[in-house]
Amino acid sequence: MKIIKDCYPFIEKLNPAQKAAIKQGYLEDQHNYILAIPTASGKTLLGLMAAIKTILEGGKVIYTVPLISIQNEKIKEFKELEKHGISVGKDPRSSDLAIMVFESFDILTRFSWNTLKEIDLLIVDEFHMIGEYTRGPIIECAITRSMILNPGMRIIALSATLSNLEEIGAWLNAKVIQHDYRPVPLYKEVISLDMLNAREKNEAIVKILQDAIKDENQILVFVSTRRFTEALATFVSQKIGKKIPKETRKKFNEVADKILEIPQKSGSAPTFTCLKLAECIRGGVAFHHAGLFTRQREIIEDEFRNGNLYMITATPSLMYGVNLPSQTVIIRDYTRWTRQGPKWIPVFDYEQMSGRAGRPQYDQVGYSYLLAKSPEEAYQLREYYIQGEVEPTSSKLIENKDAVYHQIIGQIAAGLSDNPDELIEFFKKTFYGHQLTNNPNMNIFADNLEYEINSSLEFLIKNEIIRPTPTGLRATPFGLLIANSNYSVETSIKLRHLATEMDELDTYKLIYEICKTPDMPFISFKTRKGKDRVREKLQENGIFVMDVGNPEATASSLIEWINERSEYEIENLFNVYAASTRRAAYEASQLIRFFKKICEVAGVYGHSQALDMLTARLYYGVKEDIIPFVVGVKRLGRVRARRLVKTFGYNLENVNEDELQKVDGIGPKMAAAIKKYAKR
Ligand SMILES: Nc1ncnc2c1ncn2[C@@H]1O[C@H](COP(=O)(O)OP(=O)(O)OP(=O)(O)O)[C@@H](O)[C@H]1O
Ligand SMILES: [Mg+2]
Repeated sequence: MKIIKDCYPFIEKLNPAQKAAIKQGYLEDQHNYILAIPTASGKTLLGLMAAIKTILEGGKVIYTVPLISIQNEKIKEFKELEKHGISVGKDPRSSDLAIMVFESFDILTRFSWNTLKEIDLLIVDEFHMIGEYTRGPIIECAITRSMILNPGMRIIALSATLSNLEEIGAWLNAKVIQHDYRPVPLYKEVISLDMLNAREKNEAIVKILQDAIKDENQILVFVSTRRFTEALATFVSQKIGKKIPKETRKKFNEVADKILEIPQKSGSAPTFTCLKLAECIRGGVAFHHAGLFTRQREIIEDEFRNGNLYMITATPSLMYGVNLPSQTVIIRDYTRWTRQGPKWIPVFDYEQMSGRAGRPQYDQVGYSYLLAKSPEEAYQLREYYIQGEVEPTSSKLIENKDAVYHQIIGQIAAGLSDNPDELIEFFKKTFYGHQLTNNPNMNIFADNLEYEINSSLEFLIKNEIIRPTPTGLRATPFGLLIANSNYSVETSIKLRHLATEMDELDTYKLIYEICKTPDMPFISFKTRKGKDRVREKLQENGIFVMDVGNPEATASSLIEWINERSEYEIENLFNVYAASTRRAAYEASQLIRFFKKICEVAGVYGHSQALDMLTARLYYGVKEDIIPFVVGVKRLGRVRARRLVKTFGYNLENVNEDELQKVDGIGPKMAAAIKKYAKR
């Protein structure tokens, strides 16, 4: 394959796992396949080789992944193919090779059958995700629908952590390729504190890092919460900070400055989290979690790759798929909070985290250290994680009510099922249905399926999402709206309730209600400290609450946001991770848009304009008066728009470009754009 040689110049030859796959006929035959080979063994390349072959023969390919971060990484990697005339993108309508996240692929299987039928090969990366509670059922049903609608399509599943291969293989009607080759040997150990002569885990981490620095190796540490990533990074960076050589310190300072530029560019002073991050980075350690700006996370990953950081402390969000030069991975926390209290993480999470160590592009060997407090604990952990086997992957479809509702609505809205029997038939074809009928342990639940589907259907009919007609089950306009969205049924019903109950539109209350739905990402508290101020803020706006948690923090932050407060101010006011503000505000604006459509199908008119206004206010983070400016002038942004209005008032017709440029942040190009807008 000349194309591969050209796009991956550093790959000299295929590794044994890859060779074994090809020897088994993986590239030649048209069968479905499961490639169950270890982390770092080059599954991406195997997927890609099949994709290229299909495309060269005139076919189309979808490569689906669970996370947007992985999607971006793969697009960057696969773009190389464009030199060879293979178009790469996110949409299969316009690309030969489309990299899609699970949710987008799911929508495609419901509403774009013509496109779906054109697909010749589907590659599902991180296939074990099918056993995850929220995202699993989505990809499971999307695969089921594709198998029904496009039976000729070939499916390739990739994963390092599957154990019940026979069962999954039978469901997918796939051949299984299993291999235990890992190109970079990975040594997995449980280390107890006494072995390192340390009193506590963080001290042990410092010791491991000091050794790594001597050997010029880098470390990735997994802890369980955002707050822990920060505390650990601060601790380690202070401990080793003093001993950093001058040249190295200069590099770290440059990275820290880059981090601080990010909020500046968006017109905000750096938040405390940004300052803390920069401070840690000056000591060579970065923390990495979902409360940072996306761009900051990218900088951390890139600089770590460039060798400009000693260590990253991360939440499990970095656990899947990524390639980083971390010769050593330390797993500090092996429990996670659940409703039933702290629980040990599953073996496959342990395997995925360990798998980030020793990646072929960067290292010749990898080490994974799981930390234990005492020798006794170490013994238990060894037995559980190192001797233990990866858990079987099971469908979570029926456990997740919302997933069942969504799939029923989807099936009916798409015209794929119009009576209960057909629905049950569909669910029987899912992995859940397969497990139910073929797994002797689950056989006893077989009646359960019918019961679940029927009672879910009843619920949907009662809520006027589905309605029975003489010609079968149909989706109501409200049901169609839900089918076309990714919002949960619970959120949709709640919003419709709100729509019919509300006489006048209360902007702030509506924001609060939106923040209480399961579809809103939170702007979460860092500590309890800001709770009183959140309560006061909501009270000021006529919202009285007993408990103050993340939904309340999010609502009060968004209220400040649309009143043009900066992330920095929001953070200080409420003690929250304010870097998530923009994402939360964006999602809230989309939910308001959805709410507007719900009002329309519920026959509630009269709020349309106000809702459009609120959507824009959330989207841009502005008060009403400057909406026309931020909408009308591309890239002007809320800070400069406000300065303009303060300086010249609302009418800019008689202001010339030179005068405009006297406003801070407005250069000749922007001035011209503003002028063009003012003349319209
Ligand atoms: N034959 C090869 N020789 C050298 N490097 C290779 C070869 N095949 C793949 N690689 C490189 O190995 C690295 C790991 O590959 P990849 O990310 O595909 O792993 P993976 O099997 O998907 O692991 P994970 O389960 O952790 O996602 C990549 O940087 C890839 O470019
Ligand atoms: Mg991978």
